[in-house]
Amino acid sequence: MDRTPLPPDETVLVRAYRPDDEDALFALIEREGEEWKDYWQGSGRAKYLTALTGSIVDVLFEGDELCGYVRSRDDDGFGVYILDLLVDQRHRGKHHGRRLMEHVCQQHPDDDVYVTSDVDPYYEKLGYTREGTVFVVQRRP
Ligand SMILES: CC(C)(COP(=O)(O)OP(=O)(O)OC[C@H]1O[C@@H](n2cnc3c(N)ncnc32)[C@H](O)[C@@H]1OP(=O)(O)O)[C@@H](O)C(=O)NCCC(=O)NCCS
Repeated sequence: MDRTPLPPDETVLVRAYRPDDEDALFALIEREGEEWKDYWQGSGRAKYLTALTGSIVDVLFEGDELCGYVRSRDDDGFGVYILDLLVDQRHRGKHHGRRLMEHVCQQHPDDDVYVTSDVDPYYEKLGYTREGTVFVVQRRP
């Protein structure tokens, strides 16, 4: 896979999340339904808002429509960990996911950047190399 970054696209804007993005971001997450329900259902929304506040969050817009986002955490110089990546179903296949991933790398040029994967074929397609595995150590009651 060619790892040359995507060329700029003037129809797409990626910028840092702002509190006034909250409703559009949660509408996007809710459209994912069951699989993302921990983040939006019941007390999940308030918990996830706290997580957003403690994370680096970037949002992608086409015009004024929020089409995707990426959430990561910086381990204080020991790597940036991408924890969530989501592109609206109606806007998939336009390289928005890849653009968000590249944005994180561009924002942290001197850091290792890792992603916790639920979709290995996607990250393989983007040319990333596998390193390590995540184990479940404990499940909440
Ligand atoms: C995975 C996801 C972020 C991809 O977003 P996207 O914007 O549609 O993907 P891109 O357009 O950046 O895809 C880049 C390339 O990967 C390919 N691709 C997309 N999804 C893929 C998948 N699941 N498996 C393998 N390849 C995939 C695309 O065809 C594209 O190939 P190309 O460069 O030859 O055109 C999106 O499907 C999504 O939000 N899924 C639900 C949430 C999720 O699984 N998030 C990731 C785990 S946390």
